[in-house]
Amino acid sequence: MRRIIYTSRSLIGGDQTALDAILAESSTWNTEAGVTGMLWSNDAHFAQVIEGEHDKVGVTMDRIRADPRHTDIQMVLDRDVMSRQFGDWAMRRADGGEVSTPGTTFLLGFALGESSVSAKRLYEIIIATEI
Ligand SMILES: Cc1cc2nc3c(=O)[nH]c(=O)nc-3n(C[C@H](O)[C@H](O)[C@H](O)COP(=O)(O)O)c2cc1C
Repeated sequence: MRRIIYTSRSLIGGDQTALDAILAESSTWNTEAGVTGMLWSNDAHFAQVIEGEHDKVGVTMDRIRADPRHTDIQMVLDRDVMSRQFGDWAMRRADGGEVSTPGTTFLLGFALGESSVSAKRLYEIIIATEI
């Protein structure tokens, strides 16, 4: 299994219809590929976790990179893992406001535990939304 966490800059602003479309497309692709995860967003950024079989996650990440609805993709984590940590959601949505959701809490906790620049950036993106 492979887990990727990345951040990116959103080019859809607060367009909820566009966000719903991304989630719907993602869920369809992911169900087919056995990929699961969580998409966090505010008006300025995305943060996403994807988990699944190694090659499927790679193909999914290629598709994500090619999407013009966001830019400035920065890897926070790309790791082989023993098991999924985000449950079985084809793609679960976690808004910035839902800090109590397990997914957002995990992202914050994860970012706090890592010393990398990209993890610090992930933390700042999420915390900036909550304050
Ligand atoms: C923020 C964001 C998250 C995305 N997440 C996924 C994903 O989890 N799985 C996936 O297959 N594609 C994901 N995509 C990519 C879109 O689903 C993909 O670009 C679109 O479905 C491609 O459609 P097309 O090839 O028919 O144009 C994501 C795109 C963006 C902008």
